[in-house]
Amino acid sequence: MKVPRTTFPGLAGCRGVRLRFGRTVALDDLSFAVEKGETVAITGPSGCGKTSLLHVLSGLLRPDAGEVYFGSRELSAESDAARSRLRLTSFGFVLQFGDLVPELTLGENVELPLRMTGVRAAVAHRRALHLLEELGIGDLASRQAGAVSGGQAQRAAVARALVHEPQVVFADEPTGALDSTSGEAVLDCLFAAARQRHAAVVVVTHAAEVAQRADRVVRMRDGRVLETVAAR
Ligand SMILES: Nc1ncnc2c1ncn2[C@@H]1O[C@H](COP(=O)(O)OP(=O)(O)OP(=O)(O)O)[C@@H](O)[C@H]1O
Ligand SMILES: [Mg+2]
Repeated sequence: MKVPRTTFPGLAGCRGVRLRFGRTVALDDLSFAVEKGETVAITGPSGCGKTSLLHVLSGLLRPDAGEVYFGSRELSAESDAARSRLRLTSFGFVLQFGDLVPELTLGENVELPLRMTGVRAAVAHRRALHLLEELGIGDLASRQAGAVSGGQAQRAAVARALVHEPQVVFADEPTGALDSTSGEAVLDCLFAAARQRHAAVVVVTHAAEVAQRADRVVRMRDGRVLETVAAR
């Protein structure tokens, strides 16, 4: 008799995940789920496993034990190539320091995820420009990424994370390098644009103002979830 497939809660998540780096336990029997369109902030002290959790959820790292899933797919059982493809099509990423290509314009940077999935240049160009306009930096589309402010670069990074209409955006301290005013503006952009597209956001942060904007806050300690709080 065929054993029925386990169903997973939410859109994406993990169950009973353990991850070690040598003798360091980064994630310890951790379970987490995010719903479609939900925004979740992950907080906790340095070294508690926040970045490791994002890497596991997005399929960049395969855990030593436990299951990682997206929809009905079990990522932890899939090949590196399949997980890479999924990252390209269904996930978006925003990192702490504008990891834009400095020699390209903001527009070209935002087009990249579309071009990498075979979208025609003219269409990619139009969609990138449209999103940059929505995020308030349309006038900078042809400026080199190396010649904009930190806040403008992070807005472009938000545009690049969303331009291919991903289902989940993973953001690792996206405002960590900004002052609080431009940080808040970037977050407002990220959350508003994601909510409008029903994309889920999992954002790692040390900043209280980030956590306040999320639907739910997950506090971590020593590779585990300490508590989950509905923020709004
Ligand atoms: N590539 C690696 N090699 C060895 N140990 C690692 C590696 N990456 C993370 N670790 C360890 O795993 C634990 C969790 O690290 P992680 O980067 O997930 O923490 P974090 O919560 O994101 O911290 P921070 O707030 O400082 O970014 C830490 O003890 C860290 O030193
Ligand atoms: Mg980290």
